[in-house]
Amino acid sequence: MSTTAILLAAGSGVRMGAGMPKALLPLAGRPMLMWSVDALAASDVVDEVVLVVPRGHLRETQMALGRAGSGARVVSGGASRAESVTRGLGTVPDDVERVVVHDAARPLLTPALVRSVIEALQGFDGAIAAAPVSDTLKRQGDDLAIAETVDRTGLWAAQTPQVFWTEVLRRAVARAQAAGSLALATDCASLVEAAGGTVRLVPAAAQNLKVTTPTDLERAEWLLGRADDALPEC
Ligand code: CTP
Ligand code: MG
Repeated sequence: MSTTAILLAAGSGVRMGAGMPKALLPLAGRPMLMWSVDALAASDVVDEVVLVVPRGHLRETQMALGRAGSGARVVSGGASRAESVTRGLGTVPDDVERVVVHDAARPLLTPALVRSVIEALQGFDGAIAAAPVSDTLKRQGDDLAIAETVDRTGLWAAQTPQVFWTEVLRRAVARAQAAGSLALATDCASLVEAAGGTVRLVPAAAQNLKVTTPTDLERAEWLLGRADDALPEC
């Protein structure tokens, strides 16, 4: 069965504040997005990677891929994450059955997690990496006063990779586009859920962190700097 991965790297990295796109920042010796390109390739279940990068960074990314000897199709992204997904999805051939969507901002992706999420798709419309929420949750009221404590039982934090049957994701995106709500979606599962699809949770290890701030970048650098065999494979 054929599978294409859409690797999202078209964000501008405002919260990182580095003055350049976050996914192109050096991380443990190479552009951050290269860690995900390699993990997707090493999973042995992804046939092709479509890399979505900021407008104006296509050539630079193609050169970085070339230097690393990696193959990926590079396309330019949109103004929101969901629009970048749509642009990537638009280049996926009709005969590709499954799509994996992954944020380049999660460079600690492992091949094993990619395989687990793909395996979990069977019998569902989608499957996503996620972690049970461990913090106590508060809803904010006026002046930062706590309005209530939210019961965290059964709550999970959504991550990537997220995998869907290609046609299911295409229909969910088209539906949100028609409703004018596409740009509001912060992940693809929410689009499929809104269309009535079933999406399964796949527990991911804590190391699958999202790099948002300079502190996250330091943490990722430290984790990647540890011996490869020190990282648990999931
Ligand atoms: N992304 C994208 N296209 C956009 C916005 C985001 O492809 N228009 C991607 C980012 O590159 C990232 C993922 O979506 O891999 C999650 O986004 P986020 O962590 O918010 O990254 P940025 O948007 O780059 O960061 P910020 O919100 O701080 O600007
Ligand atoms: Mg963002």
